[in-house]
Amino acid sequence: MNGALTNGTVPPAIVARGLSKEYQLGAVTVHALRDVDLTIPAGRFVVLLGPSGSGKTTLLNLIGGLDQPSAGELTVMGVTLGSLDDERLTTYRRDTIGFVFQLFNLVPTLTALENVQLIGELVGQGAEAGAMLDAVGLAERRNNYPSQLSGGEQQRVAIARALVKRPAILLADEPTGALDGETGRAVLQLLWERTREAGITVLMVTHNEAYAAAGDLVLRLSSGQVVSTEAQAAPRAPRDLEM
Ligand SMILES: Nc1ncnc2c1ncn2[C@@H]1O[C@H](COP(=O)(O)OP(=O)(O)OP(=O)(O)O)[C@@H](O)[C@H]1O
Ligand SMILES: [Mg+2]
Repeated sequence: MNGALTNGTVPPAIVARGLSKEYQLGAVTVHALRDVDLTIPAGRFVVLLGPSGSGKTTLLNLIGGLDQPSAGELTVMGVTLGSLDDERLTTYRRDTIGFVFQLFNLVPTLTALENVQLIGELVGQGAEAGAMLDAVGLAERRNNYPSQLSGGEQQRVAIARALVKRPAILLADEPTGALDGETGRAVLQLLWERTREAGITVLMVTHNEAYAAAGDLVLRLSSGQVVSTEAQAAPRAPRDLEM
């Protein structure tokens, strides 16, 4: 029997120890992250807040394996990222991580369905693309091109694309940043519902303070450091938030 199942302890999804990231800009060293320690239990919806330049995107890029830390260690789903060679890192990014960005990053020459299938086929789950578009309320729009979809609809395609590969971790960098308030809230509601159903660990960056109430965990970054970690026993559905 698997000990993790029998003794009731589930390993955390993300553990950072002494995580630092520096960028060299000519003679200037930018400390994007400074000695961050962090433990994120699996299945949580984490809201990440902080001023511009505080290190939010840097943290997501490190967790997503898109960038390497200058110091410290990151363990995601039990895998220490620093120990992976390039090939395993590619597999990790493809199979473990889903990304949703502020600008939807759809392929303009492919339909909504093809955009979702594109990723689904990469990991051998192409048949589920249609069902996933259904789940985000876009069954009728499957044959539309991105230019024929509203911003909110495009972001829902991007969410379907991220979810169809069943990632353990979903990283969302200001996914509602390019949307108006009401559309942003509807998109967030969908992201929140679908990831909670699936037990996916989500890290969502936002500048919208009102969205903090939707998090199981609220992290605040300032100048490259985590300055507060707040657990919320009863997070509220985005649709119920006062804005
Ligand atoms: N490739 C890079 N080269 C040099 N400096 C960088 C690079 N990427 C980020 N930085 C710097 O690192 C710091 C953290 O940047 P980061 O993008 O993580 O901030 P952020 O919290 O996501 O900000 P925003 O809310 O504006 O997106 C900033 O000072 C930024 O200028
Ligand atoms: Mg950013």
